[in-house]
Amino acid sequence: MLSPYLQSLVAKASQNLKTIVLPEGEDERVLEAAYLAVQNNVAKPIILGKLDEIKNFFAKKGWSLDGIEIIEPEKSPHLKEYTDLLFNLRKAKGMSEEEAAKMALNYNYFGTLMMKSGHADGMVSGANHSTADTVRPALQIIKSKDPQMGVSSFFIMVSNGEPFILSDCGLVIDPNEKELADIAINAALSAVAFDIAPKVAMLSYSTKGSGKGDSAQKVRNATALALEKLQSEPYNALDIELDGELQADAALNLTVAHKKAPESKVAGNAKVLIVPNLDAGNISYKLLQRLGGCEAYGPVLQGLNAPINDLSRGALVEDIVGTIAITAIQAQTR
Ligand SMILES: CC(C)(COP(=O)(O)OP(=O)(O)OC[C@H]1O[C@@H](n2cnc3c(N)ncnc32)[C@H](O)[C@@H]1OP(=O)(O)O)[C@@H](O)C(=O)NCCC(=O)NCCS
Repeated sequence: MLSPYLQSLVAKASQNLKTIVLPEGEDERVLEAAYLAVQNNVAKPIILGKLDEIKNFFAKKGWSLDGIEIIEPEKSPHLKEYTDLLFNLRKAKGMSEEEAAKMALNYNYFGTLMMKSGHADGMVSGANHSTADTVRPALQIIKSKDPQMGVSSFFIMVSNGEPFILSDCGLVIDPNEKELADIAINAALSAVAFDIAPKVAMLSYSTKGSGKGDSAQKVRNATALALEKLQSEPYNALDIELDGELQADAALNLTVAHKKAPESKVAGNAKVLIVPNLDAGNISYKLLQRLGGCEAYGPVLQGLNAPINDLSRGALVEDIVGTIAITAIQAQTR
């Protein structure tokens, strides 16, 4: 059963169907998610795996394979092309032709190479792989959309039906001020992609100089860098509002905002919450989910040239369908 928020994402994904690679065809949850993605008109799935086994699974369930493409990487007519592409992209980093041939057969690399070749719009993996195994091919092959900016991740947190962006809760462990500014700008772009107002609060334990310390200073410096970047193309064409440093209460509550940051346009109205490091991000999202009753969707990668997203190994079928919808929406707006 999809939550009302996930249903809204599915409706958005349905408006312009994208091709999403699922490299974990050995996992029954992934096969069921692919089936549901077609039934609910979320995306056009491509499953990587053993054709006979997947056909048998669908036949046993009595499900149609219509709308689903199955590719066996070992037998793909594109394997040589993908191997050459991988070798050319990574030879400067020391990859040999033999290593490229072996790696192209790793399904996460194969799926990523399909995307790089324009044969798929997005990829969802991680039901059986670590975050690093899913994310590394993306970072190595797909790379950042803006070469000056790093890739990071976000969660969509839904509180009483209202979505917020929280970032980075999943990827960049200890961002410096430039990396934190990149996270903020990419999170604002993610907000736009998901129809969330790009009102960005750079969170800290301090509001506008109220607290001392290196970490608050880092957030102040990152705020200045992000504001400077927002003056340049293409970011200046977007209606992004960003302010910091702000405590979470000043970011979210208008009464507190009037006291602590009366001049700020973002304080009290923030919809995009940027935390200073991965400890703060990961702990916040889990507390909001476990104690605050928020729905949490993510981590979703942002800043990549094309969308690839990681699943938790404990992911339920509906989580996978939701991640397919999120990835498809990112592909629509890239
Ligand atoms: C994502 C992660 C696995 C990458 O680690 P890694 O593979 O050791 O990364 P490396 O430093 O070897 O970099 C591999 C490539 O990715 C690139 N890269 C790494 N981080 C990047 C970033 N944030 N943005 C863009 N590129 C990045 C590197 O430049 C390198 O590219 P190159 O090989 O073309 O030079 C690592 O950042 C990580 O473990 N993050 C925390 C994940 C986590 O535990 N999350 C909590 C639970 S969700």
